[in-house]
Amino acid sequence: MSKQLRGEIRVGGDKSISHRAIMLAALAKGTSRLSNIARGEDVRTTLALYQRLGMEAAIVNGCVECTSAGYEALRTTESVLYCGNSGTTLRLSLGILAGTKVECRLAGDDSLNRRPVRRVIEPLRQMGGDLATAAADDRPPVQVRGRRLHGINISTSVASAQVKSAILLAGLHADGVTSVTEPEQSRNHTEIMLKNLGCNIDVEGKTSILSPAKRINGFEYAVPGDISTAMFFVVAALIMPNSELIVRDVLLNSTRTGAIDILRMMGATIDEDNVRLQQGEQVGDLVVKSSRLHGCDAANVVTARYIDEVPALAIAAMFAEGETAFHNVSELRVKESDRATAIVDVVKAFGGSAVVEGDTLRICGGMSKSMGQAEHLGDHRIAMMIEIIDLIRSGGVSGIYGDAISVSAPEFYELIKSLDQ
Ligand code: S3P
Repeated sequence: MSKQLRGEIRVGGDKSISHRAIMLAALAKGTSRLSNIARGEDVRTTLALYQRLGMEAAIVNGCVECTSAGYEALRTTESVLYCGNSGTTLRLSLGILAGTKVECRLAGDDSLNRRPVRRVIEPLRQMGGDLATAAADDRPPVQVRGRRLHGINISTSVASAQVKSAILLAGLHADGVTSVTEPEQSRNHTEIMLKNLGCNIDVEGKTSILSPAKRINGFEYAVPGDISTAMFFVVAALIMPNSELIVRDVLLNSTRTGAIDILRMMGATIDEDNVRLQQGEQVGDLVVKSSRLHGCDAANVVTARYIDEVPALAIAAMFAEGETAFHNVSELRVKESDRATAIVDVVKAFGGSAVVEGDTLRICGGMSKSMGQAEHLGDHRIAMMIEIIDLIRSGGVSGIYGDAISVSAPEFYELIKSLDQ
């Protein structure tokens, strides 16, 4: 095993929050100033999509300045709005557009067009929405014919922030109250941001209850650092000897910190510093020191709290002593790739041992020499997983996955270079 990882980094703005900040700026009347917006391709896609719907956007003093005439004014002359690789762009926009006067088709790249949207379309139809897919199995593209919606009380079968947020964003301009109850609470950024903007929204346990908004005004928002990107660096620092890494100003919302809890169960030394509330979101610095990791059973941690971090956690499991088990991982199969299979394949390509049994991913610590070629399948988080394993093993990265990684973290390679190794 190679070298150390020492230094201080700031990762780019959180992807989930950046999408929502842009969408809410499009729904608001006036100018919104968004700082530290994620620079990745997914968030650029959201920005471009809402520009096509009439929002103006410019970079002013490093902030994305968005000017909109508000929800009622959203219009497009385009017949197709492109969502690229981004599930959040597609699903949340279906919720927003279902109740507008917009008629258009939302489509993605090959990967996005393979991912299910029925989970969003069905509740929106129950709200009175007119959404149609060509494919019988409800895959994108989705044709939306905007019409007036009514609120619903709904219980979802999966803990998905994209589904919950699509319903809440549709409910924002519908008639009557909308409530969404999830099997487990998924990330709550939509709720926090709506509350911050003066909307009437309450969260009671796993239920979010929203009354329609009268008007949202332009706002200022500083996006915290992306915890999902940060976790790759955290895991590398834990495993590489003599490391000490500080990740500044990162999102620490408890619906997103399941990976930190799991790593601590595995014996990781991760401290939090300067923790504060920033526009309703918990933000702080992570201070990470090399630690001797052992396997653990993550059964007590709600999977939605770490679903995007499984590729990073899988690395920790590969270098830990003993077995680590992640439960309820079936949602991994409908991410940018079938991440359950992709993770198992990467672990095996590096000579490790991994298996999915039913709904549980098991990874055994201990590695041999690399045996095969690891495939990233065009998935940004799998590409980062491969590079971080390489970094840990050899002290270097191949640098060849820039295109895939730039979907979420174009700063990834620069950050690695900036650290003392
Ligand atoms: C996201 C929610 C999660 C997550 C995705 C981003 C969001 O997806 O995996 O990367 O921004 O709401 P699901 O809602 O499908 O679980």
